[in-house]
Amino acid sequence: MKTQKELRALIDQMTMEEKIGQLVQYNANVFTDTSQEATGPAAELGAKPEFLPVVGSSLNFQGADEMIRIQDEHLAGDRNKIPMIFMMDVIHGFRTIFPIPLGMGASFDEKLVEECTRMASKEAAAGGVQVSFTPMVDYARDARWGRVMETCGEEPLINGIMGAAQIRAFQGDDLSSPDSLGTCVKHFAAYGGAEAGRDYNTVEISERLLREYYLPAYKACLDAGATMIMPSFNSLNGVPSVANKWLMKKVLRDEWGFDGVVISDYYAIGELVLHGITDNLKDAAAMAFDCGCHMEMMSVGYQSHLKELIEEGKFTVEQLDDAVMRVLKLKNDLGLFDDPYHGASSAKEAAVCLSPEHRALAKKAAEKCAVLLKNNGVLPLDKETKRIALIGPFADEKAIKGFWACCGEDKDCVTVAEGIRALCPDAEVTVVKGCSALWDDKDTSGFAEAVKAAEAADTVILCVGEPQNYSGEGNSRADIGLPGLQTALVKEVAAANANNAMLLFTGRPLVLTDVEKSVGAILNMWFPGTEGGSAAASLLFGEANPSGKITMSFPKAVGQCPIYYNHPSTGRAKQTPEEVHQIYASNYIGCGNLPLYSFGHGLSYSNFVYEGFEIDSDTLTADGKITATVTVTNDSDRAGEEVVQLYMHDLFASAVRPIQQLIAFEKAAFAPHETKTITFEVREDMLRFYNAECEFVSEPGDFDLMVGYADHFAFTKRFKLV
Ligand code: GLC
Repeated sequence: MKTQKELRALIDQMTMEEKIGQLVQYNANVFTDTSQEATGPAAELGAKPEFLPVVGSSLNFQGADEMIRIQDEHLAGDRNKIPMIFMMDVIHGFRTIFPIPLGMGASFDEKLVEECTRMASKEAAAGGVQVSFTPMVDYARDARWGRVMETCGEEPLINGIMGAAQIRAFQGDDLSSPDSLGTCVKHFAAYGGAEAGRDYNTVEISERLLREYYLPAYKACLDAGATMIMPSFNSLNGVPSVANKWLMKKVLRDEWGFDGVVISDYYAIGELVLHGITDNLKDAAAMAFDCGCHMEMMSVGYQSHLKELIEEGKFTVEQLDDAVMRVLKLKNDLGLFDDPYHGASSAKEAAVCLSPEHRALAKKAAEKCAVLLKNNGVLPLDKETKRIALIGPFADEKAIKGFWACCGEDKDCVTVAEGIRALCPDAEVTVVKGCSALWDDKDTSGFAEAVKAAEAADTVILCVGEPQNYSGEGNSRADIGLPGLQTALVKEVAAANANNAMLLFTGRPLVLTDVEKSVGAILNMWFPGTEGGSAAASLLFGEANPSGKITMSFPKAVGQCPIYYNHPSTGRAKQTPEEVHQIYASNYIGCGNLPLYSFGHGLSYSNFVYEGFEIDSDTLTADGKITATVTVTNDSDRAGEEVVQLYMHDLFASAVRPIQQLIAFEKAAFAPHETKTITFEVREDMLRFYNAECEFVSEPGDFDLMVGYADHFAFTKRFKLV
């Protein structure tokens, strides 16, 4: 490790080009291409070949060997012998893939998130990664947006908890450990607020709403020690984040005092011209550098213009040196000056990745993230079932790892058919695809075979959903139903055999209103990752008991989007039943206001009975606390886990308040027929909100505490904050 003094001395003897090189990040293929004529990515990017030897960082390389090759080549040519830093998107696994973050959030299990992330960190570090562009903690309320799959949904509390858990797991106690990675919180800020749920679209959100919902999770991650942060592509209230002075200077620098490294998103500095807030790259580079963006990913603004800007006096050498020092400090903290490979090797990569214990953890995670949305009792299935029909495009599909699966491969995934055949070797398992999962599929020729298979089976499992590339970056949908002919297939097959259950694969809340009534059960697997099929089998046959709860509302209709549980009342709250339109009230003709499945919903094979809810006082003082106790019994013969959720409603305040807000939760394990009392502590700080003046306050008055899940509470107790 170098001392601060040694780093300072290193910087003092660097040339301007060498310093600027430390602020630039190019894809690996830009380097590997330079062995020939500067064509391909380097030329397309505008990267000057003579500049490449001083570039200090890369991303999207392929494994330990390529990282080592690029590193060696760089060090051979760098007179300062400053190692490059290699980054990648290790979103939910490196090679062993666990469920998408929207699923991991549904586990309500912080320890599971830490365990899986630590596994990913070990695999990724062995594979040459030194910093991961995670956690993504964007707040999202609109299921049309494809990147909801990367979030933990519509509750900032959960996003912050799961984001901080990832930071701890990636970074460990020592960044220089060969199992640890640096982290990069993203996308700062409010990328999930894209208008109409259309990726990269404009974002207009009041400061109050930003501070209340969109910013807290980023701050929780910085408080957990994140080493980097990435401004988002979107314009925020008129100015793209990377050039947004309010966001980058007032909030990130002045209020939060962030002293790590800020890296632009991919070509985001170049995109300032496309946003139309400047007509040239030099100006764009100046805006971003002025806003404290230290590293430029995959555009050439800094390479091309930063030297000129400094020579023109727009910026000082001290400002440049500050940016360089932050980058060198990160490299030093990662131990790269001592080991430029950070412990990576292809041998270690091969030994660590996809190990049996990693696969076992991925299966456990997929079991704990799954959400049982509906069950008329058809699940769990009897393991003695003789004839099982798996019908639908996901019946024997390996593409279930999700969009952001890093180095994970579909071929490594266990399909539903493989999982069930392994668990029930004596069963006769018939697989019929019936139709594709594509939105424009018109070919119903597979329906007849599907119906025939359903008629001949004891049990039918409908395996449907959206393709894994219908969510993730750039993949927004204006219609969030089951794509293509799947709804028709579900209805025809369900009509042929009432003993059916639906297995769902999705990267977002889908509109299931048209199929929900046709099937006996719906088990949502999200995109479960490498062991998806084995987890699905164990859940379907009761080897595992579903315990997940959705953290994002499932709309009844896409026209309800954005729909979210923590909404204010309005002055015209609907009083009529869901399906009855009420004129002059806030509601729709032909569709209710409630989602099909509300935030916090998820069934179990156990039967959890909420028997009592007590608070030890109906008055709370600013420095006091209320103890709330919830008595829950597992009234079944099956062990299971329940997420006990505590909500609050601030009945009257100087700004409108949500009718329900999750303030605490506990996932508890229950033996058969076990009763537990779950205890929560309610303090004044848990009641604070941003008032109309954007002051973070609590206000005296009446509050309700509720137990259950959004829109469905078993108990309510009132107390007064004095
Ligand atoms: C992408 C994404 C960002 C990712 C980066 C590097 O465009 O917006 O999440 O970390 O580029 O792959």
